[in-house]
Amino acid sequence: MRASTTRRGLILAGGAAVAAGAAPGGQRRAAAQEAGETARIGLILPMTGPFASTGRQVEAAVRAYLRAHGGSFGGRRVEVLLRDDTGIAPDITRRLAQELVVRERVRVLAGFGLTPLALAAAPIATEARVPMVVMAAATSAIVQRSPYILRTSFTLPQATMPIADWAARNGIRTCATLVTDYAPGLDAERAFKQRFTAAGGQVPLELRTPLRNPDYAPFLQRVHDAKPQALFVFVPSGEGAAAMKQFAERGLREAGIRLIGTGDLTDDDILNDMGEPAIGVITSHHYSAAHDSEENRAFLAAYRQVAPDARPNFMAVGGWDGMHLIAEGLKRTGGATEGDRLLAAMKGLSWTSPRGPVTIDANTRDIVQDIYIRRVERRDGQLWNIEFDRIAQVRDPGT
Ligand code: PHB
Repeated sequence: MRASTTRRGLILAGGAAVAAGAAPGGQRRAAAQEAGETARIGLILPMTGPFASTGRQVEAAVRAYLRAHGGSFGGRRVEVLLRDDTGIAPDITRRLAQELVVRERVRVLAGFGLTPLALAAAPIATEARVPMVVMAAATSAIVQRSPYILRTSFTLPQATMPIADWAARNGIRTCATLVTDYAPGLDAERAFKQRFTAAGGQVPLELRTPLRNPDYAPFLQRVHDAKPQALFVFVPSGEGAAAMKQFAERGLREAGIRLIGTGDLTDDDILNDMGEPAIGVITSHHYSAAHDSEENRAFLAAYRQVAPDARPNFMAVGGWDGMHLIAEGLKRTGGATEGDRLLAAMKGLSWTSPRGPVTIDANTRDIVQDIYIRRVERRDGQLWNIEFDRIAQVRDPGT
């Protein structure tokens, strides 16, 4: 299911999809909501544009959650209004958030595929006193932009520190960095350098590629010429296959340069498309579709029901857990949706996610979670991120 334009929306209620115009009937629906019928959640995601894969992943997980758990929590029926912000213009995200709270009277804002888009919506959440559940964006500072923000994704420093430690422990002394040139990339670059050099490593080259239409080839050529022992990469979800292809074509592996990164690089959504060059790549991240647990098996089964041909990635688990946070919050308030009450009910919640044990820290409103070190391996003809080490309950160092 897609939202084809930013002006049209879709309602997902208990897994059923109902097309809905944004403008007419808004006031009538808001009145019905106050009378106790529904709690509306405004889900803003990039469903089109260069980061549409993130939107698809999160939206499918939200739908899967509602289908698996029913559409009512704490006696309150939940409706999700999906809006496509196209993943590029913060102005669009801000306008959609505004419309959702003013016209549609949503009780929660959720989604947010990229950092600039989450930052654009933050003041709206504060002004409207509406909880805002960040399911995807991962720059450290996001949670500080509004006291109404809670996060179920991850942060780049949280995911990066363990791979920096791993590299230093595993004989890598020189490591270049290559990150996408915007906030989460800069977070990753900083965290890697700080941690790796503190452990005695050296970063001889720090490269930044543009967010829009990146061409990795010239950057990788510079890495090839500098000949570090390894290259650390952060690229946003969806970009990993292009970066991996160029890494292979430039002959970096043959030159003896190891590729490491955060798990954004070996994104489960596109890992199988990467083929041979991905095998053996080591990353650190909070979720692998290969994670061995009951909760993950249940998640995979639920996800398959709504997206039979896709493998859920780390964005999808952020969507699933974001819905869980809202559902548990509603249970705690007995279905009450008043913003400050619902926010207070969501703060401090802990549960076993498909990724492992997680907590929404009551003070920072950020997620505390296990981070895994994984190696790409072929199993039964498919590529997987196989977890082989775990760092328990990692917090974002900035918060
Ligand atoms: C972000 O913009 O915050 C972002 C997007 C994709 C990722 C990680 C972070 O994979």
